[in-house]
Amino acid sequence: MKAVAVFPGKREVRVIDHPEPQLTSPTQAKMRMLDVGVCGTDREIISFEYGTPPSGYDYLILGHESFAEVAEVGSEVTKVKPGDLVVMTVRRPCPHPDCTACREGRQDFCFTGDFTERGIKQQHGYMTEFVTEEERYLNPVRRELRDVGVLVEPLTIAEKSLEQLWLIQQRLPWACPVEPGKPRAHCHRAVVLGAGPVGLLGAMALRIAGFDVTVYSRSRTHDENNPIVDAIGARYMAAETHSVEDLTKAAGPIDVVYEAVGASKVAFDVIENLGPNGVFIFTGVPGRGGPIEVDTNYIMKDVVLKNQVILGSVNAPPHSFEAAIRDLGTFVARWPEAVRSLITARYPIDRALEPLANNAGGIKNVVQIAS
Ligand code: BGC
Ligand code: ZN
Repeated sequence: MKAVAVFPGKREVRVIDHPEPQLTSPTQAKMRMLDVGVCGTDREIISFEYGTPPSGYDYLILGHESFAEVAEVGSEVTKVKPGDLVVMTVRRPCPHPDCTACREGRQDFCFTGDFTERGIKQQHGYMTEFVTEEERYLNPVRRELRDVGVLVEPLTIAEKSLEQLWLIQQRLPWACPVEPGKPRAHCHRAVVLGAGPVGLLGAMALRIAGFDVTVYSRSRTHDENNPIVDAIGARYMAAETHSVEDLTKAAGPIDVVYEAVGASKVAFDVIENLGPNGVFIFTGVPGRGGPIEVDTNYIMKDVVLKNQVILGSVNAPPHSFEAAIRDLGTFVARWPEAVRSLITARYPIDRALEPLANNAGGIKNVVQIAS
């Protein structure tokens, strides 16, 4: 079967022929891949900055943003049946008995760093025709989400971050006054940095939670407006024409920043404008740029005098996948056009290198393996 493979040793990326996997335990299922999303992590892997093949291989099959149909199940599988749609989680636990996080299925908080990740670190990914996986890593998706199911994994980044945010803010009286018909965060203001898929999905999740949302971003075409941001009832500010001070003026005292660009300069400029008791959530991974200048005294003073929290978040547990599947259903019901327009192009597997090389433009580009 076909697979998109990266050979770090040879510095090559190409579509290869890879043996079709078969069930090796009664608790596994075999999936026919439908859509596989392409993101910045994949682009780093094809630039050989990141990504490790499984032991015994000189290549890594790419792809971690999965959407698939169950083709076959082992005799002990109960969660899914052939024909069901599923999204698979990405990270698998480390083997160390004393890693309390991995031992409890929370490998998203692995202590040792010896976790593996499908399509990223020592496990083949999903950009291929068939994969097998243990039942516990499968998350069933309702058929109504057939055309947008590939957005689940990038949305889990926001779901985990928001869960962490609510947990952290239990440190103070942060709950909004209960008002009938108003969602629970109706009194809070959030800023999203970046209008890529992670930023826009995060903005949607913040909106349905009730936050007042401002999205601050650059765009390839220097747009002054963003139709998706408008559609979800959020405010858009173009970073090319508006300073961080303009942003703070428009957004008001910022309770939460959801960073989704991976550019540290703008992030630290915005940290200086975080409001009292605010939480700044980093989700982007910056490239290898040189050091940047920041006023550490100013940031440290505010972090202390304003009780601020700076939080990093990576990967997501199964319950964040469930939350993402549920919320994606809400997004589709509220903003059907906006959600669908997040997926800008689908490429057949033989042309997978085009969206990977990032000259494709658009928001979320997808490799469509089957339909
Ligand atoms: C994936 C995460 C993964 C991270 C680091 C991201 O693109 O969404 O699941 O943990 O990369 O490898
Ligand atoms: Zn990703």
